[in-house]
Amino acid sequence: MTVPTTTLPSDDELPVVGKGTYELEGETVQEPVEMALDVGYTHIDTAEGYMNEPSLGEVLADHDRDELFLTSKVLAKHLNYESVIEAAKTTLEDLQTDYLDLYLIHWPNPAISVRETMDAMATLEEQELVRNVGVSNFDLYQLSAAQHVTDVPIAVNQIEFHPYLQRPELVEYCQENDIVVEAAAPLARTEVLDDPVIEELAEEYDRTPAQIVLRWAVEKDVVVLPRSTSRKHIEQNFDLFDFELEADDHARIDDLDRDEPVYDDRARSWDDDVWGMAE
Ligand SMILES: NC(=O)c1ccc[n+]([C@@H]2O[C@H](COP(=O)([O-])OP(=O)(O)OC[C@H]3O[C@@H](n4cnc5c(N)ncnc54)[C@H](OP(=O)(O)O)[C@@H]3O)[C@@H](O)[C@H]2O)c1
Repeated sequence: MTVPTTTLPSDDELPVVGKGTYELEGETVQEPVEMALDVGYTHIDTAEGYMNEPSLGEVLADHDRDELFLTSKVLAKHLNYESVIEAAKTTLEDLQTDYLDLYLIHWPNPAISVRETMDAMATLEEQELVRNVGVSNFDLYQLSAAQHVTDVPIAVNQIEFHPYLQRPELVEYCQENDIVVEAAAPLARTEVLDDPVIEELAEEYDRTPAQIVLRWAVEKDVVVLPRSTSRKHIEQNFDLFDFELEADDHARIDDLDRDEPVYDDRARSWDDDVWGMAE
């Protein structure tokens, strides 16, 4: 099985379904990723903060690098120039590869200049250590500021996106500016799966609730990164391209927006460490 791709500003092709690996720490990442590669996934999403890059590297070493699209992210505490370069090199070594297809700033860090971080990203791109650069969890203000201080195209913004958090203004801005939106937590960590509208549509289309939710996102040209450890779910989440939601049904899901995050709570407590940002 293969999935469609979307074209990045570099002309690289990004598969519209990727394998999420959050919380799959250490060796726990290996079996689900092997299953996904076996099913046909080629796009893998990781991050230095997920604590799985060395284990992932062992799995990926047995696969043709040219066939893979690998994304990683630099922690918010590593956004100084030298730290970005160092973090990227560690990730490359851990993943046993010479380049990343996409490297993202994992979280904005208001305590570090985004100009400095983007300068480091530009260096990584020039040195061909990363093929595309992007950001994650950036709101409109942060994204437009980052664009303003760099000539490097910001290819992707990976944000929390699902029926309960649709962020239409941010998505529209990204798409108008040729920035691909990737949906982190596209299933809202399962919270949307028992919504009565989703369940009803699943029955109507003879699909699972997860397939309805993921199909709705890809119909909006949003790339999805579902995480699963189950072979059945991994297969389902990839099998989204032989059906279409009727416009009315698509709109019923649009109507579920509650502006409610499962993880990206902007008014977060700074007593909690946010990816090392408090350090
Ligand atoms: N940039 C960021 O800050 C950020 C933040 C969050 C996430 N992400 C990325 O996005 C990926 C996905 O987000 P997430 O891991 O937070 O949550 P998610 O994909 O929304 O939800 C994962 C949960 O859904 C279940 N699931 C998956 N497929 C299913 C299916 N077909 N039917 C029923 N349940 C299903 C999984 O359980 P099973 O294992 O049992 O299938 C798991 O409990 C992450 O792994 C990561 O790569 C990035």
